[in-house]
Amino acid sequence: MAETFYITTAIDYVNGLPHIGHAYEKIAADILARHFKQRGKDVFLLTGSDEHGIKIQKTAQERGISPKEHCDETSVEFKKAWAKIDIDYDRYIRTTDEDHIKLVQWMFKELLKKGDIYKSSYTGLYCDGCEAFLSARDLDENGCCPTHQKKPQEIQEENYFFKLSKYKDRIIEHIKTHPNFILPEYRAAEILNQLENIEDISVSRSKKSVTWGIDVPNDEEQIIYVWMDALSNYITGVGCLEDKELFNRYWPCDIHMIGKDILKFHSIYWIGFLMAMEIELPKTIFAHGWITIDETKMSKSLGNVISPASLMEAFELQDADSIRYFLMTTAPFGKDGNYSDEEFKAKVNADLANNLGNLLNRTLSMLLKYFDGEIKDFAITDCSSEIAKLAEQTAQDVKAKFDSCQITEAIEKVLLLVDHTNKYVNDTAPWSLAKTEEGLKECAKVLYNVLETMRFAGILLYPVIPNISQKIYNQLGFEDIIKNIKLEELEWGELKTGKIASKETINPVFLRLDSEIAQDKKK
Ligand code: ME8
Ligand code: MG
Repeated sequence: MAETFYITTAIDYVNGLPHIGHAYEKIAADILARHFKQRGKDVFLLTGSDEHGIKIQKTAQERGISPKEHCDETSVEFKKAWAKIDIDYDRYIRTTDEDHIKLVQWMFKELLKKGDIYKSSYTGLYCDGCEAFLSARDLDENGCCPTHQKKPQEIQEENYFFKLSKYKDRIIEHIKTHPNFILPEYRAAEILNQLENIEDISVSRSKKSVTWGIDVPNDEEQIIYVWMDALSNYITGVGCLEDKELFNRYWPCDIHMIGKDILKFHSIYWIGFLMAMEIELPKTIFAHGWITIDETKMSKSLGNVISPASLMEAFELQDADSIRYFLMTTAPFGKDGNYSDEEFKAKVNADLANNLGNLLNRTLSMLLKYFDGEIKDFAITDCSSEIAKLAEQTAQDVKAKFDSCQITEAIEKVLLLVDHTNKYVNDTAPWSLAKTEEGLKECAKVLYNVLETMRFAGILLYPVIPNISQKIYNQLGFEDIIKNIKLEELEWGELKTGKIASKETINPVFLRLDSEIAQDKKK
């Protein structure tokens, strides 16, 4: 049986529409999922929406519709957005799904029975943005939540609490003894720091302050507080309660892909819940950075929120490959990145149109011109050349980078190979070689080397730019679906002899972006 790879994304709040920050995370997870499928793993990608809580209740109220109606509509918008940018998930979970509600109530009852949930009265500072109680230590110098720049509300309530403090030492121990548990590693220190002062956490709210949520079992007055609800989507999603076989197949999760702003909830709260439930812990929690727009935080009030669909429309893109590519290369994966129209155009034109696309195009054109589009028997080269070795080494390097979630670095490895191949073409000058009969044989070999390298590049970049990669693959004379190509079978010398190119088949795989985009077209 194939080894499994279970990856999840954060589930997005549906109080707003999907933007490229949400997209960034889903793309990263989709790329890892696609890559590990290429490695022969049995992959499950879970994404979805977080639909309960005060923020969503208020948004629905403002729209004059019920929270459920609002969530039904908005979750459809998220799904549409993910379809447009080729997020190939296995389940889209909604926290309003029947099986999820059952699971959360079951978990609540189990923990209550165990004494890990207890009732107590409480006065605390609540931030609507975080949907969480903050302690005085969490606030900035102005007494505001550092993430949402808003003063939290003082709330006095009788709530249910989870005995997080009971698990504190075990959580610290686990983080310290599992260096891959929190990635990038540099983020673990801040979590260990926060763990020093961790207290029990509220897991319910009074219906006097919020009504939109999952009912606390056997208590008319309380709903289950959103983080316990939201976090447990990761086990509902693979059938924890209703499909034991599925659950045993995929759990424990390999990677929870989330933003750095919610790392605390994942690496402390979630781990506490799982320990209390005696469920195995996830292997890795990866906290990615934030995408800014023109170096500014995206926000509705600033009016600079960009949706992936509007970007595709503004640049008249047929697919989202260039957006996927840009977002994943704008900063080392894990750090904050920035989007601007100028950087986007410059980057994808340089890398996808010039470096990758032109190389294929001019090489196939030479193949057409000198060999009538045919790969001759005498063109075939073995894997002993420097360029063949580099291609095979790149495949190994890319795997190693993906193994540690270094998506940007994995992509860079392929682009280095492409750079090198461009230089190889310029150095060997096949157009000069073609001038003599003797040189023509050498020319055929050079073109073969370049096209083989392009095949490697296309397959290795497939998880990032699936549409462009498919086109590359087809233009190299293959009819197969690139999705089905396994990296284990990627070896030098697969390119077939015979006619692969004609005037009709040679087309640019990526068109340069030249259009000047009106700023408001994207809003
Ligand atoms: O936090 N750049 O939902 P959310 C990069 N429902 N990532 C960004 C981003 C940006 N500009 N803006 C948001 C929640 N994100 C909870 C999660 S999980 C059990 C519950 C990321 O809609 C953010 O970091 O505020 C988070 O991982 C995801 O988008 C959803 O954010
Ligand atoms: Mg948020």
